[in-house]
Amino acid sequence: MESRAKRVFKYVDEEVDAVLFMNEEEPNLDTMFPYVTGTTSGLFEQCIAAAWPNGNVDLITNLLEETSARDSVANVIVFRDKKEKDEHVKDLFGKAKRIGVNAKGLSYNHLMELQKLLPKAKFIDVSAGMIRAKLVKDSDELGRLRRACDIASKVGREIPESLRPGMTESEGAAEINYRMQKYGASGPSFTTIASFGANSAEPHHEPDETKLRRSDIALFDYGALFRKYGSDVTRTFFVGRATAEQKRMYNTVLDAQLAAIAEIRPGMNGKDVDAIARNIIDSTEFKGLLIHSLGHSIGLSVHDGGRMAPNVDLVLEEGMVLTVEPGIYMKGKGGVRIEDDIVVTKNGCEVLTSAPKELMVI
Ligand code: GLY
Ligand code: MN
Repeated sequence: MESRAKRVFKYVDEEVDAVLFMNEEEPNLDTMFPYVTGTTSGLFEQCIAAAWPNGNVDLITNLLEETSARDSVANVIVFRDKKEKDEHVKDLFGKAKRIGVNAKGLSYNHLMELQKLLPKAKFIDVSAGMIRAKLVKDSDELGRLRRACDIASKVGREIPESLRPGMTESEGAAEINYRMQKYGASGPSFTTIASFGANSAEPHHEPDETKLRRSDIALFDYGALFRKYGSDVTRTFFVGRATAEQKRMYNTVLDAQLAAIAEIRPGMNGKDVDAIARNIIDSTEFKGLLIHSLGHSIGLSVHDGGRMAPNVDLVLEEGMVLTVEPGIYMKGKGGVRIEDDIVVTKNGCEVLTSAPKELMVI
């Protein structure tokens, strides 16, 4: 497997001697940190990782996560207090004149601190290359994503049996989270969305005390985290009955999703895939009601940097892992979204999530 540090340097356009990654406190952890070090557990708050052009990786860690650190590909340097950490930073980067940093993951506070510690070094933002480096997954990343997708699919198959009228959105979300963890996830990959009735018209509705009623739409958008990699799935159900309009909505979204998936292949631009799904929706009475992009890359975070959206150039490559999630949202009435995760293959794509998605009245 290609060293992740080498891969990072392949995508850095700026001239730098090293790339430094530094975590804040949870939840402000840089996803590039586990990416370059290969750690599969541990927070590493306030810790530092360094990637070097020869492929070497150093990890300056506290004692809390030393065991996880030693399980990684990095050379481990342990500190007991801030003074020791600062000394290690000065030793490690003392000769580096130009240090790359990931501006998307480094706090301003830490940048100031690093500038004080290393006054002769110039800090250069290399975040654009970091996004590109992470888009194509290696076999280890794909293995973890497959598990995250399998867990979410298993839970998706069980959602209908877990629903009963009177339950709240919070209970619905808790049920999903419980089952994902029971099946091996370390937790959800983002805050689970459960939205009932008219709430389903807001794509990022957060679960509340709304109760499920007969004749409601019930939409669930959730993902499993497996060794730091997360899946992202949405399924929409009809409780008790589906009106003729709701059936048309659902089948339009499903047609749009299947048509987009059928066209995904290396070399295709993500914005053209978006257009396939969007045009299908826009040719119906639901014109203009897909109010977000068709999909996004997933990996160490649920929105991993790439997007299939109008006006976004993303040329698809083998090994990219993306969601395909068209939706139709009718304010005051409700929404339908169907979301699956795919990996781009040599000649097309493979759908990694497998929960049933034919229209279901439960
Ligand atoms: N699963 C939530 C989103 O993709 O925005
Ligand atoms: Mn998504």
